[in-house]
Amino acid sequence: MSQPDPNQPTTSGDPLLEISNMAVAYGRIEALHGISLTVNPGELVTLIGANGAGKTTTMRAISGILPLSSGRVIFDGRDITRMKAHQRVAAGIIQAPEGRGVFPGMTVQENLDMGHYARKFDSKADYDEALERVYSLFPRLLERRKQAGGTMSGGEQQMLAIGRALMARPRLLLLDEPSMGLAPMIIQQIFRIISEINQQGTTILLVEQNAQQALSRSDRAYIMETGEVIKTGVGKELLVDPSVKEAYLGVGADSGSDTSRAAAPAAGAVAGGAAGAAERPDLRK
Ligand SMILES: Nc1ncnc2c1ncn2[C@@H]1O[C@H](COP(=O)(O)OP(=O)(O)OP(=O)(O)O)[C@@H](O)[C@H]1O
Ligand SMILES: [Mg+2]
Repeated sequence: MSQPDPNQPTTSGDPLLEISNMAVAYGRIEALHGISLTVNPGELVTLIGANGAGKTTTMRAISGILPLSSGRVIFDGRDITRMKAHQRVAAGIIQAPEGRGVFPGMTVQENLDMGHYARKFDSKADYDEALERVYSLFPRLLERRKQAGGTMSGGEQQMLAIGRALMARPRLLLLDEPSMGLAPMIIQQIFRIISEINQQGTTILLVEQNAQQALSRSDRAYIMETGEVIKTGVGKELLVDPSVKEAYLGVGADSGSDTSRAAAPAAGAVAGGAAGAAERPDLRK
């Protein structure tokens, strides 16, 4: 379903991404305490969790921006644990970063071109195909292709950031909070487009605080809390899971007067009593 890559063996039935016991630290402070997750070819998988849970850290480690202190990352059957960030881009792991990262002085078209040149392709046809896909997903970007990226609205810049990532023809697209800071109508639109990108065959790992939207559109999801995965399951099933509803979907306050109840008494090991653990998830951005 994704474009062939000469460096990659074609595996079938195996996960596209497989993370085992991944620990990541900032200096002496461990942010991820050994998480495991998989993303299968064609899936849309979401990471949900409160502020500081380790979602962005997970994405950066997958991109190769942060080194692992232990554990393994397998991509398409190949151990990439020690692979450099640019090599991972070449292999097709493409992240649209948190906070968009649009080049403000460049036009929309130039921003998209930068995305394409991040990865080597054989022919102009690859470029044309990628550009056509982006402009058909985001007609707005076509209209504004000569406008400077920095003068676009927040929603348009988010579209540009996703479009730029798509220009690299990702085999795995990493999206970190694409809905952040956007108006509800734009959020809806961004989520619809993410679903469409996935339905076109692109495998996606998404980080979102908008749990309702994300879970309803995801094949599977992982719930993270203070550097651990505390729960995983099918997106739509998690949507109706009582502990998930209470902690992440803004319901449960009506089930009693005790609104001070700790978040997510979810299955599995909840991260130990570190300072952050008592924090109520702030997911209602
Ligand atoms: N550059 C850094 N240096 C030191 N600690 C960091 C750094 N970035 C993140 N952390 C810490 O690592 C932990 C995980 O942070 P991370 O940014 O991955 O969380 P997150 O789930 O993405 O949160 P948010 O929802 O706020 O984006 C937090 O305790 C955070 O304070
Ligand atoms: Mg984050």
